[in-house]
Formats: sequence, structure tokens, C-alpha cells
Amino acid sequence: MSDAIDHVLAETRFFSPPEEFARQARLCSDEEYRELHRRSIEEPEEFWGGIADELVWYKRWTRVLNWDNPPFARWFEGGKTNITVNCLDRHLTTARKNKAAILWEGEPYQERRTLTYLELHRLVCRFANALKNLGVGKGDRVAIYLPMVPELAIAMLACARIGAIHSVIFAGFSAPSLVDRLNDAKAKAVITADGGFRRGQVIPLKSVVDEALLQSPTVRHVVVLRRTGTDVHWVHGRDHWWRDVMDPASSVCEPEPMDSEDPLFILYTSGSTGKPKGVLHTTGGYMVGTYLTTKYVFDLREEDTYWCTADIGWVTGHSYIVYGPLANGATTLLYEGAPNHPTPDRFWQIVERYRVNIFYTAPTAIRAFMKWGDGWPRRYDLSSLRLLGTVGEPINPEAWLWYHKTIGQERCPIVDTWWQTETGGIMITPLPGLTKTKPGSATIPFFGVDAAVVDEHGHELPPGKGGLLVIRRPWPSMVRTLWGDDDRFVEYYWSRFRQQGWYLTGDGAVRDEKGYFTILGRIDDVINVSGHRLSTMELESALASHPSVVEAAVVGFDHEIKGLGIAAFVTPAGGVLPGIQLAGELSEHVKKTIGAIARPDQVRFTDSLPKTRSGKIMRRLLRDIASGREIKSDTSTLEDYSALAKLYDEE
Ligand code: PRX
Repeated sequence: MSDAIDHVLAETRFFSPPEEFARQARLCSDEEYRELHRRSIEEPEEFWGGIADELVWYKRWTRVLNWDNPPFARWFEGGKTNITVNCLDRHLTTARKNKAAILWEGEPYQERRTLTYLELHRLVCRFANALKNLGVGKGDRVAIYLPMVPELAIAMLACARIGAIHSVIFAGFSAPSLVDRLNDAKAKAVITADGGFRRGQVIPLKSVVDEALLQSPTVRHVVVLRRTGTDVHWVHGRDHWWRDVMDPASSVCEPEPMDSEDPLFILYTSGSTGKPKGVLHTTGGYMVGTYLTTKYVFDLREEDTYWCTADIGWVTGHSYIVYGPLANGATTLLYEGAPNHPTPDRFWQIVERYRVNIFYTAPTAIRAFMKWGDGWPRRYDLSSLRLLGTVGEPINPEAWLWYHKTIGQERCPIVDTWWQTETGGIMITPLPGLTKTKPGSATIPFFGVDAAVVDEHGHELPPGKGGLLVIRRPWPSMVRTLWGDDDRFVEYYWSRFRQQGWYLTGDGAVRDEKGYFTILGRIDDVINVSGHRLSTMELESALASHPSVVEAAVVGFDHEIKGLGIAAFVTPAGGVLPGIQLAGELSEHVKKTIGAIARPDQVRFTDSLPKTRSGKIMRRLLRDIASGREIKSDTSTLEDYSALAKLYDEE
């Protein structure tokens, strides 16, 4: 049996960058890309030094990369800077001073705010002073548990201004999840709100913090933003209203000179075992990495209005709502709520209202839009859009094509960007002015990224053979460690290829003849059926290519004969009747598309799939259901419990 993952879907459609787009793009020729990529790999010191020189440093680095002690990299060693100087101060002496830095739209109607760079700078400085007045200083950990309001970005930047390490915790997490994170980070302060709005409901936040703090002894201060007007319990001395700490705070705050390797933030991400991993990013490398990827991947222009729909609670929001766009002096849009509140056209309304030019979202959202129907986006003028992006999971070609036609109106390149919380920034992605895109493929490595597909022994696999995706060289925005747990960091990411010093991404991938990478999903999402290792992503794509299917998730379950059987969970299109007949039709369809080996053993129908709040399908949970086991997985990150209940009802 081979180690390779069988790659069965052959995608042959290619889309050249539209001429109009390519003509004006920052990078538009393959030769230019190849030369820059070669330099970034062969002469990393010159390449990255040159990029870092575009930014402001108090003290220049002495060494671009110190990799003497792998896997602990030191980038721009000896350099001193402050990321907020690059995100804010450096724009204030230019025409960007009065440019919109943040455009914000609240979920309830008519709530809008625009913050210019000058205003944002002032608010960040004041909040930084407010934190200082509470005794927060360099190296202290500050947890941020806020809805998608401008104060979330302000709080992050204020921490960075004074050298405090922020840890944003997505506002959907429960009290026990908060306790784990606060205690692991030994947080000194929490910044929260009375509540947040989500699909017209008020989600209480302060009360969740109160509950968590019963078990989080390190937290001394809680700053509370008034957002929903919800009644809150108050602990005098510990709790402070945002407004009260802001009022006396001066708007002059000298930035803390940060060593390039001083921590910037911790972001917790779930591991395959229960305990969340505190991914640590540091100052200089993360700043340079997010600055450069934002500039080239999104082909940012001065006049662009850029919208990434992620929540800042995830890494996408850190790198591509806050730090990357602001470091580039862009206008970044923030929307507080759900895409279907009050109606499924909310995103398209926003695109039309703000004349959004660059739109970056997740495949799961795209599939939801497909399900809601073309009628919603058709009502709006989407002609301002010139570039589309996706992130977070493999995009099935059906969804890619829908995005291309219905949203991009065949005019906008799509950048399918592969990366991870741990990589800090985009790693594999089309460059929109030059890469011929291929639906479902993240295509080519970004500058400085030495990606390869290898087998278990580290041998590079030939085109068409799926295997493990590894990164063979350090890159500036890479994870530095797991907070407080160097051993786990080494074990988790670096032990498989310790000799070679390669980073194990945990994803399966395949490279084609052109050198394009297609991500096959997490390695543990691979199903081994009768000795064939099938990628769940390809099975899901095959199902989703059937006209009666909106979305599908596939998992393996123990099977006496095959080792693993294939269980498909399917959301049928509106108006389609689920049942035995459709199940049979879908099995046939998969057989035709991939082969008899891939025919599902179970097909179950559901209105919606159980997903985490970041949109990832909860496969462990589906595996439990398919195997008829009691659910043992942690369900605290589940977006919609009714999805689960309904699946059980069908048992
Ligand atoms: O499996 C890959 C998938 O998301 C994982 C990283 O998740 P997270 O750390 O939460 O970060 C998400 C946002 C960067 C990866 O290991 N993934 C992310 N982007 C893609 C993807 N899979 C396929 N294609 C992508 N474009």
C-alpha cells in the first residue's frame, strides 16, 4: 500500500487573469514572479531585508534570519520597531492622514462609523494610555473578547503600542473555553462588551466573562464596552467601563520600542487533542510577512476599499483585516454581523454601498450564498469588485465557478489562499495579475515559501501523487512556539521531519505538472478505503457537483470489510426532496465521477452541517454519528446546535 493519497479529480479548466486586471497589476509576468521567488529562496537575506526596509524601524536588524537553533527562528534579529508605528503613525505625514482606515457597519441597520487614520491613531493612543493606567505593561497578556466593533481593532493596536501581548478570543466561545485560554496565557486583563449582536439577537458577553473569571485568578481588570445596553453584573475595583477609562486618557502615547522577536500576540487554535494551542507570533517577521502578502496577493491600490469578511477572532482577521491592510495604509471594512441578517443579501448591499473593490471570504459562506440563490446578489451593483479571495478550507470547483460567475461576473481573478494560524500569513496563492487560476487549486507558493509534497519518509512525490504538505525553509511570519510549551511545539510541527528541519503543515496536498498545489484537506481527513487513501475534499467536491446538492461533508467510519466506510452528509438544494431515491442517485454520481471505490456507504440528509464558528465542518462529530457512537467530541465551538439535533432525529 502506498503512502500517497489517491488524487482522483482531474481539473482541467484554467482561467487567465483578465487583461484589464493584468494591465494594471503590481506583478503581471511569470518571469517576474519566478525571478522574485528564486531570489526570495536563494537570497532570503537580501530579499526580506529589502522588503523590511519599506517599513519603519527604530533600529535596523543585524541579521535577517537566525536559524541556528531550529525550529526556533529569529527574524530581523537585533531590529527594533513597533507595528503600530507602521500601521498608523507612518501614514499620518502623508495623504493617508484623513483617509478612512476603518469603515464599520454594525448589524442593526443604520449603524455606521468611519475612522480615519488620524482618528484611529488617537483612539489607539488613548486606549493604550488607559491600559497603562490600569497597570498593564510590556509583556503582560491581555485577552480581548469583543464583537466585531472598531474597539476590537483599537484594543489590539493599543496592546501592541505598549508591548502588551494580546490574545483575541472569538466572542462565540463559552465560559469554559475562555477559562482554558485565560489560564494558559495567565491574562492580566480582559477587554469585553456588555453584549454583541448576532442575527438580531443579543449575545451576552460580560456575563460569560464573569462566569469564566470565577476560575481565572490571574485577571485583575475587566474593561467593558457598552454595545447592546444589556444589564451587567459589576465587580467594583475589577470592572471598568470603556468610556470611563478612555475619558482621562491622554491621546499622546509614545510607542514602546519592541525587539523584532518580542511577542505580538497569542492566538489559540484547536488541536486534535482537547487542549487549545497558543500559537505565538512575534513583532518584526509577522509585520513584514503580513505587509507583503497583503500588498501582492490582493494587489492593493491606494484607492481600494478592501473587505475581508472573517471575524477578527481568527487569524484571518488579525492578518488581513487589521495588521496587513493597515500596514499598507488601506481602507479596511468591518462588518459586525451575519451574512443573512436581516436577509441573505446583506453582504451584497454592503459591497454596493461602500463600492467594495476587494472581497475576501470563506468557501463555506460561498456555498451558503449558492444555496440562498442567485436572486440575492443579482439585485445589486457589484461592478466595483475587481478581485475575489477565499480562505479557510478547500473550495470545491462548483463553488469556485459560482463565485467567479455570479459574484465576480467573470471579471475578477479569484485568489484561493492557503495558509494557517501557524503560518501567520498567506503561503500558497495565485498572484492575481499573472497566475492562471484553476478552480479548487491554491496554485503557487508565495515569495519565501519553499513548499513540497512528500511521502512519510520525506521523499518528494511526483506530480499527481498526493502526500504530506511540508514547508522546507523558515519564513518571516511563522509561528515561534506554542505559548509556554516549546516541547509541544517541536513535537507537533517539527518532529516528523526533524532531521530535515521541515515544518509539517498537517495538510495533504498534490502538485500538478505545472507545479500548482491543490490542498486535499487535513491529513486526518483522509479516508483509507480498502487500501485506497481518498481525500474527503475530493469526495465532497464530487457530491457538490451534483445539481441537487448544496454542500456535503464526508467522513470515514469503521467498516468490517473495507476498513473504513464512507459516510456522506448532504444538504440538498432548495426544493429537492431528500430520500432513498436521491441517496441512490448521489451514490451513482460519485461512482461515475470518482469510481466505484468511492461510492458512499451511507448518505444522510441535513438542512445544515455542524460547523465551528469559523466555518469548519466538525468531522469528528460526524464520525461519531456515522459510527453510531455517542458524541465524545468537544462541541463548545459548534455554530448551530440545531444542525446536530436534526442529524440525530434522523437516526
Ligand atoms: O486545512 C487547511 C485549511 O485550514 C487550515 C488552517 O486553519 P486555521 O489555522 O484555522 O486558519 C484558517 C485561515 C488561514 C489549513 O491547515 N485551509 C486554509 N486555507 C485553505 C485551506 N484548505 C484549502 N485551501 C485553502 N485555501
